[in-house]
Amino acid sequence: MPGDELAERLVDSLNATYGRHAGFRAAHARGVLCAAVFTPTAEAPRLCRAEHLAGSPVRAHVRFSNGSGDPTAPDGVRDGRGMAIKLYLADSTTDVVAISLPAFFARTPEDLLAFNDARRPDPATGQPDAARVGAYLEAHPEAIPAVTAAITHPIPASYATINYHGLHAFGFVASDDTVRFGRYDLVPAAGEAALSDDDAAARPHDFLRAELRDRLEREPVVFELRVQLAATGDPIDDPTAIWPDDRELVTLGRLELTALAFDRDQDGDILVFDPTRVPDGIQLSADPILLARSGAYRTSVARRTASA
Ligand code: HEM
Repeated sequence: MPGDELAERLVDSLNATYGRHAGFRAAHARGVLCAAVFTPTAEAPRLCRAEHLAGSPVRAHVRFSNGSGDPTAPDGVRDGRGMAIKLYLADSTTDVVAISLPAFFARTPEDLLAFNDARRPDPATGQPDAARVGAYLEAHPEAIPAVTAAITHPIPASYATINYHGLHAFGFVASDDTVRFGRYDLVPAAGEAALSDDDAAARPHDFLRAELRDRLEREPVVFELRVQLAATGDPIDDPTAIWPDDRELVTLGRLELTALAFDRDQDGDILVFDPTRVPDGIQLSADPILLARSGAYRTSVARRTASA
C-alpha cells in the first residue's frame, strides 16, 4: 500500500471509532500543554552524542493527553494517556512521544487496521463485539499484553502520577559511533497514584487539566527520562513485545514542567509531535508501526487544519 493511502486509511480508522471532530487531533484529541526544561545527566552523553544530551538545559514543551480521538470524552474513564515532549535544539526540534500502556496493540499498520475494526463499538449497543475481539486475539496473541493493560489500566489521579513508555526502540549513537538500541520510559518523581472507578466518575469532566494547573501553581512537575537498553535477542522492531525488567537502564535526564503553556498550538500554530523527528545521534529502528506514524500524523494535521 503506498504510504499516503496507508496514512489516510489509518486516520479513517481512528475517525470511524471516535468520529471526526473539526480542529482536533484524530487521536489524543484532549490535551494540555506545559512549558518545561530538560536537563541531561552526566551519563547521557556517554550513551548518545545527540545535541540535547550534551550537558546544557534545553527548553521544551510537554503535552499530556487522553488517548481518545473524541474531545468530549471525560477525563475520568479508562483510557491510555499520552505524554509528548518537544525539545528545542539550536536549529531544529526533536520529539519524544510516549503512552501509559506498556505495549502497543499491533506489530504492523495493517494489523492495527484489522484490530481497530475488530474492537470498534457496535453503534447499536455502544459495546465492542466480544466474539470479534476474541477472534482477533486468537489470531494475534501478540496484542494480548496491550489489550490486558488497556482493560485493567488505572485511571490516574494526575497526569503527573503515571509512568509513560516510548514503546519503540531507537538507536543511541555514542561519540565513537557505537550504537545501542533502547526504549524510553518517563518516570514521575511524584510516584504513581490512581483513582477508584467511583472516585474518577465523581470528578469533574476535565479534572486532569485542573489538577495539573493547581499542582503547577504549588510546585514543578518532574519526570526522569530513562532508556531501557536492549539485550541480545530483544526485538527492536516490535512494539507489542515487553522486554524483561532486568534490562540495563540509563537515566538520560530530568524534565521539569514549570507552568501550563499558552504560547503554542493556537492561532494557526500547528504543534505536531512526531517520534521519527530525531537529531544526529539517534537512529530509527525498522519498527513498521514507528515508520507509519509520520504519515498518519501528517494526515491528521491536514484534516484538523482543513476543518478548523
Ligand atoms: C501506526 C500506529 C499509530 C497511529 C496510526 C497513530 C495515530 C495518531 C494520530 C493520527 C495522532 C494525532 C496526530 C496529530 O494530529 O497531531 C496521534 C497522536 C498521538 N499518538 Fe499516535 N498513533 C500510532 C501509534 C502510537 C504509539 C505507538 C504511541 C506511543 C508510543 C502513540 C502515542 C501518541 C501520542 C502521545 C499522541 C498525542 C501527541 C500530541 O500530544 O500531539 N501513537 N496518534
